[in-house]
Amino acid sequence: MSLNTERDFGTPALDGPATVGVEVDGLRVLVPEGTSVMRAAAIAGIDVPKLCATDSLDAFGSCRLCLVEIDGRRGTPASCTTPVAEGMVVHTQTPKVAKLRESVMELYISDHPLDCLTCPANGDCELQDMAGVVGLRQVRYGQDGANHGDAEIDHSNPYFDFDPSKCISCSRCVRACGEIQGTFALTIEGRGFASKVSPGAGETFMDSECVSCGACVQACPTSTLQEKSVVELGVPTRSVTTTCAYCGVGCSFKAELRGDEVVRMVPLKDGGANDGHSCVKGRFAFGYASHPDRALKPMLREKITDPWREVEWDEAIDAVARGMLEIKRNHGPGSIGAITSSRCTNEEVYVVQKMVRAAFGNNNVDTCARVCHSPTGYGLKQTFGESAGTQDFKSVASADVIMVIGANPTDGHPVFASRMKQRLRQGARLIVADPRRIDLVRSPHIAADHHLQLQPGTNVAIVNAMAHVVVTEGLVDEDFVAARCEGFDDWARFIASEEHSPEAVEAITGVPAAEVRAAARLYATGGNGAIYYGLGVTEHSQGSTMVMGMANLAMACGNIGRDGVGVNPLRGQNNVQGSCDMGSFPHELTGYRHVSDDAARKIFEDLWGTTLQSEPGLRIPNMFDSALEGTFRALFVHGEDIAQSDPNFHHVSAALGAMDLVVVQDLFLNETSKFAHVFLPGASFLEKDGTFTNAERRINRVRSVMKPKNGKHEWAIVCEIATAMGYPMHYDHPSEIMDEIAAVTPTFAGVSFDKLDRVGSIQWPCDDQAPLGTPIMHADSFTRGLGRFVPTPFVPTSERSTRKYPLVLTTGRILSQYNVGAQTRRTANVAWHAEDVLEIHPHDAEVRGILDGSRVTLTSRVGETALHAKLSERMPTGVVYTTFHHPISGTNVLTTENSDWATNCPEYKVTAVQVSLARSVVATDATGAAQLIGAAAELVD
Ligand code: SF4
Ligand code: SF4
Ligand code: SF4
Ligand code: FES
Repeated sequence: MSLNTERDFGTPALDGPATVGVEVDGLRVLVPEGTSVMRAAAIAGIDVPKLCATDSLDAFGSCRLCLVEIDGRRGTPASCTTPVAEGMVVHTQTPKVAKLRESVMELYISDHPLDCLTCPANGDCELQDMAGVVGLRQVRYGQDGANHGDAEIDHSNPYFDFDPSKCISCSRCVRACGEIQGTFALTIEGRGFASKVSPGAGETFMDSECVSCGACVQACPTSTLQEKSVVELGVPTRSVTTTCAYCGVGCSFKAELRGDEVVRMVPLKDGGANDGHSCVKGRFAFGYASHPDRALKPMLREKITDPWREVEWDEAIDAVARGMLEIKRNHGPGSIGAITSSRCTNEEVYVVQKMVRAAFGNNNVDTCARVCHSPTGYGLKQTFGESAGTQDFKSVASADVIMVIGANPTDGHPVFASRMKQRLRQGARLIVADPRRIDLVRSPHIAADHHLQLQPGTNVAIVNAMAHVVVTEGLVDEDFVAARCEGFDDWARFIASEEHSPEAVEAITGVPAAEVRAAARLYATGGNGAIYYGLGVTEHSQGSTMVMGMANLAMACGNIGRDGVGVNPLRGQNNVQGSCDMGSFPHELTGYRHVSDDAARKIFEDLWGTTLQSEPGLRIPNMFDSALEGTFRALFVHGEDIAQSDPNFHHVSAALGAMDLVVVQDLFLNETSKFAHVFLPGASFLEKDGTFTNAERRINRVRSVMKPKNGKHEWAIVCEIATAMGYPMHYDHPSEIMDEIAAVTPTFAGVSFDKLDRVGSIQWPCDDQAPLGTPIMHADSFTRGLGRFVPTPFVPTSERSTRKYPLVLTTGRILSQYNVGAQTRRTANVAWHAEDVLEIHPHDAEVRGILDGSRVTLTSRVGETALHAKLSERMPTGVVYTTFHHPISGTNVLTTENSDWATNCPEYKVTAVQVSLARSVVATDATGAAQLIGAAAELVD
């Protein structure tokens, strides 16, 4: 396989019909109005030399290398900044432009270190290429004049170097940081010869605002901005296109290799979700896949206090199968179960739920989506009829009003955030509903029109108040509602009640009524209104209610079924959507069909040759409760660290400790494996072949870059366990698993690996009616026919602040770390976030004698942990915030067993706590043992 070097057309593609005819070097081409001469030439197959232009950025016109001659025009215009005109005749290779280009190139080279042969970019440098293209043979100006040869290299970023001696001041990096990423961390300082690229105000990259997305590195035509991995390993020679395994944006990448070593991950320009952009995790944080901590051999032990014993695969698989069968025989078919992973491929998830249903003989399968987006599935199914977001990411480019609720996209979904920020800079209006002042509220060139800084736990009151304004102020889209929806009158009577008015709920939410009214009017009347939301919506006792509340609001305003609108969950993990689609819930088969649906069950029974249970199985919390009661005795945990990620650690650890058999399959020995009897090593995304489905229902291919280091594909391990249990499961290739998924799942009917390889990606539903998928759902009618308005009474959470626990703890993520940090903590990303800290408002800190950096004890009614404090006015008083990326922080020691009424999704976002200066500092490890870390006096920095 060779290196996939995507063609660069010089300037961005424009939408619209190709109606303008031009002739370039005798070739006629039709292009959309406004297209540059450079792009038209490229479409005709002619590459005009260029340096400052690249098709991911608007034309800039600074390098003067792309000069052309045009019949009837004077001079030699820059082809990158000159738009085509009907009948234009362009000449790209005349003696005149050739001479000019050679002179321009001569000047560049005269101030460039002539070390091509030892430069890390040798063979991958546009300056080098262009010198060849323009035929530069000699440089008349010597290197002894003024030059930038002595400029110091900035090595501060862990992933890339900045060597200003090689800079040609093309400004591609500066523009990439602004136009694509939206961070504006770079400027060109000075003028003329003295001009130079500067991160921040003359800072290093690490000290600047840079978020290490890599866009500037990607855009740089020279080796000025260069991945350290290329310096170390050399220029890659081949590439494999695959999908990022971190968040639900699902960015496509080229894994570029030299030999069998991954040198770098380069975002794919044609990637449906990312269009060539990336964030620090997908772009750089892949080193965990080859980290020495990886466990690569299966391991067994009798008791969790025994040391692990490495064994061969046969012995491990036999131990799992025998153990499961024995427990099932002794304690009944309901005594065993499994948890699927949203980090794994669709094919792997599918075989795990099949193993449970067909080999275990029950429906005791649940997924980690239980603890994140299960309310999305429930709420959108009830209202729209489909458990998924309504839009593709590109749709945000047509939004006029963007409402972000309980999500922090610049940290959690950074590539989508960049896309959203592009639209905001074009003038779309912004409403943010979040207890914390997230970056989006005010960042370069962006300011929210309204920040509804609500108290944690009051989402439903806010969305009801907005809907109240829409209904009582006559802002309902009556035509849409009459034609497309049902249940409106009852809902409108409910919502118009005075108890839902912004004034009535102000005391509950803490948001001024006038602000809520203004936000509601803007959403209802500002054009296309799009809602994006995250775990700040779902991880509440009323998570499902809130999802339905947003759906009601969108329907009432007619903001469903076209470009630029919709209700869109920003899914956490790479394959949360897919793991839900694949039948991971105990009550649903693939495609969200209830297990009690006889017709649906028969499809599986016929294909699988077995009888399936019609009663839902146990959810994760029920598994834990049953374990403590002694009726649930064995659990297969596939790629999830439940001991760290699930709420109320003490409860979880007691439940795991009570089981006879815990099987963990993962990349690393983790907190859950401390309770395991069998450890099965997993494969990293670089070793997998399959598909992930992102937050916009986009099914992307994951392609193996290397063989599984553990010696076995994860889907094959599961099949072997099922087979050893007496239910034969065999596939030769994961494409056969997808073929089976397509055969039993109507929304996947038209999906296959062949088609995905042909078209790149597909957004389900994909069937005969929509053979290439469905970017925007509910266009003419809702999946359930009519959209259903559901009354959403606000029921305050029972978790309240009290005199003993006067503050409310809410949790979230940070850009550089991911989830429980198992991967990112094993990369250089720790440079940005080496520990979880507690953000606390200066007033709340002051009354407790807490200083910035003080070690503090955080106590809830279920547990206690210690963190360093960070004073932050992003927080309102009364609310504190932390992340949960480091096991030692033990954030989930504090979170309670409260959960969403419909789905049991834990209420991570609201925990009443007290914060005090640490006297003795105690963290609780995964076995529940408290460890004294030190005395407060020593730990106050
Ligand atoms: S890495 Fe990204 S954020 Fe940092 S300077 Fe480059 S483009 Fe800007
Ligand atoms: S660092 Fe690279 S992209 Fe930026 S101005 Fe210099 S040569 Fe151009
Ligand atoms: S935005 Fe998400 S999917 Fe894209 S590179 Fe970053 S972590 Fe990966
Ligand atoms: S590529 Fe046109 S001026 Fe630089």
